[in-house]
Amino acid sequence: MKVLVVGGGGREHAIVHALAKSPKVDALWCAPGNGGIAAEATCVDIKATDVDAMVAFAKENAMDYVVVAPDDPLALGMVDALEAAGIPAFGPHKNAAIIEASKSFSKDLMKKYHIPTAKYEVFTDMEQALAYVRSEGAPIVVKADGLALGKGVVVAQTAEEAEDAVRSMMGDKKFGEAGARVVIEECMTGPEVSVLCFVDGTHFSPMLSSQDHKRAFNNDEGPNTGGMGAFAPSPKYTPEIAQRCVDTIIRPTVEAMAKEGRPFQGCLYFGLMLTPDGPKVVEYNSRFGDPETQPVLSLLKTDLMDIMLACTNGTLDQLDIQWSDGAACCIVMASGGYPASYKKGYAISGLDSVGKDVLVYHAGTKLEGGKYYTNGGRVLGVTATADTLENAIAKAYDAVHGISFQGAHYRTDIGQK
Ligand code: AMP
Ligand code: GLY
Repeated sequence: MKVLVVGGGGREHAIVHALAKSPKVDALWCAPGNGGIAAEATCVDIKATDVDAMVAFAKENAMDYVVVAPDDPLALGMVDALEAAGIPAFGPHKNAAIIEASKSFSKDLMKKYHIPTAKYEVFTDMEQALAYVRSEGAPIVVKADGLALGKGVVVAQTAEEAEDAVRSMMGDKKFGEAGARVVIEECMTGPEVSVLCFVDGTHFSPMLSSQDHKRAFNNDEGPNTGGMGAFAPSPKYTPEIAQRCVDTIIRPTVEAMAKEGRPFQGCLYFGLMLTPDGPKVVEYNSRFGDPETQPVLSLLKTDLMDIMLACTNGTLDQLDIQWSDGAACCIVMASGGYPASYKKGYAISGLDSVGKDVLVYHAGTKLEGGKYYTNGGRVLGVTATADTLENAIAKAYDAVHGISFQGAHYRTDIGQK
């Protein structure tokens, strides 16, 4: 098969790497890809959000299958457009990708189907939103309705902070139309766990659980980022909690989407909080998480191509998906200054020094004259597998210590909580 992966970060490198191992895959492309992905797939300079150009490329080059990884092209209907051109694809149709693209849609879905989540109200009027914040008090959470690059959520510790968030989203239009509607919700407490799930419209198969680290600095301090590291599986997601999540959250969500006439096919990501009242949904994503995918897919034993085809064909129940015992840990090495402004173009050294059981997934690199240079905020996802989580963490940090580029920044406490 000729397969095209859409996207160009660490998550896409992990997907490309897993697909490259499949005997079914003869040739791989990635658009736009990055320096590291170029070692395993032919990179094509098409923006992930350029639906028309992507479909045209896939048609002209007779792709047999396309994997759409990022949220924006899914919300724009890239899977629908590919199908209309006769090319099967991995990822939800536009009418199901809305589970991530609109927070008010997902909150209303959870209310209708009694899926546990934080209490909330939706507002399109700024004065009413401000009045609600004042009546509820802090802590309280303000969320832009639409996609805002993971930055549209403010967990406010004071009412003033929450009011400022409402004003910047609804008044100053900080996130454009994504903030014209806001969701204001109760602040939950407890550890967070990510559960990615393969779904074929009807059947589902949860992957190993994982934990992300969203803040830039140790001890969960500093600004929110796209994710500074992740490990899998999460010791907090015990078999009992996993069963409870399947019964009260995962199965009800898959069934709800089918009942709504929006059957979900692809990877459905459950961002969960293990609250004192039981597990609740923080958010849904309509795609693989980044960086969770890097450790999770590092532990996948079954052929990813077979799983993706089963998701598209509605035959996931016929597969017995296998995972390695043990654990995996991914440390993100970022550019100095990230998530605010940072410089690009620094040479990366030590990439050949990493040991066995370590995979360096590239997130923001470019390849020039046979050398790798930094080319983004998150640069590398150094990922190790081992028999235990402690060993995976130690091995990943060993590898990180051998890699360097000017201004490199990473957290030293991934997996410590
Ligand atoms: P989201 O973009 O929805 O994943 O939100 C980003 C982060 O904000 C989450 O990972 C949580 O840490 C936090 N968060 C979101 N909603 C809530 C909530 N209702 N209560 C507490 N924390 C939240
Ligand atoms: N790691 C969180 C996300 O992918 O949205």
